[in-house]
Amino acid sequence: MKLTPVFFPVMNILTSLDALKKYRKTLSNKTIGLVPTMGHLHQGHLSLCQKSQADNDITIVSIFVNPAQFNQKKDFKNYPRTIDEDLKLLKTQKIDAVFLPKIKAMYPDNYQVQVEEIQLSRVLEGRFRPGHVSGMLTIVLKLLNLVQATHAYFGEKDYQQLLLIKKMADAFFIPCKIIPCATLRASDKLALSSRNSRLTPSQRKKALHFPRLLHQKNISTKKITQELTKLGFKVDYVVDKWGRRLAAVCLDGIRLIDNVKSKVR
Ligand code: PAF
Repeated sequence: MKLTPVFFPVMNILTSLDALKKYRKTLSNKTIGLVPTMGHLHQGHLSLCQKSQADNDITIVSIFVNPAQFNQKKDFKNYPRTIDEDLKLLKTQKIDAVFLPKIKAMYPDNYQVQVEEIQLSRVLEGRFRPGHVSGMLTIVLKLLNLVQATHAYFGEKDYQQLLLIKKMADAFFIPCKIIPCATLRASDKLALSSRNSRLTPSQRKKALHFPRLLHQKNISTKKITQELTKLGFKVDYVVDKWGRRLAAVCLDGIRLIDNVKSKVR
């Protein structure tokens, strides 16, 4: 009896810039979606992957915990790293390639060249996390240049990040479409985030006041700030801007950010 071979698509794991460049050369004339991540993947990331897969011939996910965008060393050190689980998950999603570069390879200049935006970056996240915006824009620019994707996918949870990346792509004539993706929430309404896994069950219960108050109708930003502070959150900001209500808080040192469309309220 002759057996017909069954081919399972392989997921290319690219751990060096050379491997990425070599793989990229095999993809001419294809549409390529890039999903940049810092790993510890959850359903929110997977929804970005699915959107990319629906739009493109090839989807490449990058996993890189970017030191330059952490304004606190402790936050960088504590950032959850679950590479084996992440790779398994991406394989089940039939992702074409994963780019896993080393820090030294991404920063051969020892962080000396960085992207600076001088307007949007001065407010909200930029104000509370000095250096974060430059570090984030720098790594995104490096990834866009290396991967040369036709489309790149970013979640709306980091709304200011999305606006900054769009602005940078326009300013530098980057031939890649920046695609926004809606925030995914758990059934208890908490916006999905890699940092949520650091919450204990009792912290998570408390954290739910954050999306509850953000979604509440007829409540001022001032009142939300007061309520959250009373509940024990450290509030960085709650503001109405860009047609959204945006907020960032810390709960026992764990930073949570979220935003909702203004018309939701
Ligand atoms: O949103 C993130 O996870 C990061 O800021 C990003 C866009 C992957 C850059 O490191």
